[in-house]
Amino acid sequence: MKDILERLEEKRAEAKLGGGQRRIDAQHAKGKLTARERIDLLLDEESFEELDTFVVHRCHDFDMEKNKVAGDGVVTGSGTINGRLVYVYAQDFTVFGGSLSATHAQKILKVMDMALKNRVPVIGLSDSGGARIQEGVAALGGYADIFQQNVLASGVIPQISVIMGPCAGGAVYSPAITDFIFMVKNTSYMFVTGPDVVKTVTNEIVSQEELGGAVTHTSKSGVADKAFDNDVECLAQIRRFFDFLPLHNREKAPQRPTFDYDERIEQSLDTIIPSNPNKPYDMREVILKLIDEGDFFEMQPDYAANIITGFARMDGETVGIVANQPMVLAGCLDINSSKKAARFVRFCDAFSIPLITLVDVPGFLPGTAQEYGGIIKHGAKLLFAYGEATVPKITIITRKAYGGAYDVMASKHLRGDLNYAWPTAEIAVMGAKGAVEILYRKDKGDPELLAEHSEKYEDKFANPFVAAEHGFLDEVILPRNSRKRIIRGLRMLANKDLQNPWKKHDNIPL
Ligand code: HXC
Repeated sequence: MKDILERLEEKRAEAKLGGGQRRIDAQHAKGKLTARERIDLLLDEESFEELDTFVVHRCHDFDMEKNKVAGDGVVTGSGTINGRLVYVYAQDFTVFGGSLSATHAQKILKVMDMALKNRVPVIGLSDSGGARIQEGVAALGGYADIFQQNVLASGVIPQISVIMGPCAGGAVYSPAITDFIFMVKNTSYMFVTGPDVVKTVTNEIVSQEELGGAVTHTSKSGVADKAFDNDVECLAQIRRFFDFLPLHNREKAPQRPTFDYDERIEQSLDTIIPSNPNKPYDMREVILKLIDEGDFFEMQPDYAANIITGFARMDGETVGIVANQPMVLAGCLDINSSKKAARFVRFCDAFSIPLITLVDVPGFLPGTAQEYGGIIKHGAKLLFAYGEATVPKITIITRKAYGGAYDVMASKHLRGDLNYAWPTAEIAVMGAKGAVEILYRKDKGDPELLAEHSEKYEDKFANPFVAAEHGFLDEVILPRNSRKRIIRGLRMLANKDLQNPWKKHDNIPL
């Protein structure tokens, strides 16, 4: 018996070495941690339950039968993050470059399947050279099986992808289907075709980092949600992020104790809106003043910054925040911001996270670039997402709510539950200048008369009271009371039960 136990320990120790010390050192030299080191940092101490430690590949081509490594390039299992269960897989770059074989795929599929059956999120740590070249179509099939499982799990359990090394070719599509993608700066990249193929086909010369590095995907393409400086920071932030999420779509996110007073009055909000309506202010500052302890996990901070999205807590309960940012493009909605916010709203709705929307929007961004790019379809995504959402929706208009953008931003008409406005709100079809130019075209040559018309228009519309008279606003509130109002609102809406008509699925304008 003792021999058998010793043999088990020996085999485990061997498996833990993965591709061997030389390759582990090479991994460290690149500033990257190994798969097991990453899992140790991601999960609570001693909580990891590994599965399939001894799985090896079944390939016989290219002399592969002589080269088998226990685990086959991916470490899989479950563990806890701050006491809550999560399934994980981490690709081990030290074993065949973390490449995906048929058995490697089966290991990933096993944890995905268990996660879906047990209604627990999955976190995948990717670091892989892609399909295992020696296995050919068996590896491609493995990817497709993972994609299918990603699709089935979508909207049932949160799926989080963390790119911590290469992720190229069709391999990028599993992360793309998941809910969130995080990357590590300078050591991770994602692209469908690498720099060499790009050069051959298009003659463009581009580095890996430029083509698909973390900065590219968090600021240009919007494929990734956030980038971190290194593995350690990344994993620590994912632990923080995980705490905002429910385990599955029939459970609420965890309530966390807070030292922040629920009825806190925030006097400084009364003076945050500049007297000049064309002067910007930082909507992020408004958010930080409203939420518990200023703890805001912003998503896509460097992409489409004219809209802010992120998770926070109000009186300990997770909320999703969507807010126009007047500091960027005057807070206009455009293609990228509509897509960014629509996807965020849909995640929150799928996982029962109430939505708080802060509105200061002068309209949709005009121009040929937007029209040719399909702003009509993309803007409709956000409208659709808010319109179908059945979670509690609380909206505060802080300043401008003009035109179609007024409707889109969680208005009363899109089943907003509580629609508030600050006294500084201006709700109209458009700003005074544009309106007067159209309504009084005949007075074009008379600036004095135009100024008079403009003043009258502002008197009539540059306030929240017309909308309040229609009941499109539930109340005009003092800015300083906003936190108190939101928290009371969330309590009022805690048992909200709203169902959309039965359908196989909707047909959101993709
Ligand atoms: C088998 C692989 C491999 C792969 C890397 N390795 N990629 N083995 N299949 N796809 C092995 C290498 O042979 C090497 O083994 C070890 O992993 C480390 O690789 P290096 O090249 O030494 O590392 P590095 O210089 O850091 O370069 C990493 C890399 C490069 C950029 C990822 O390895 C590379 O270009 N690999 C091929 C990538 C690729 O084209 N994959 C197919 C993508 S298409 P030793 O024994 O020396 O340590 C795809 C289709 C998916 O994946 C379709 C889904 C539908």
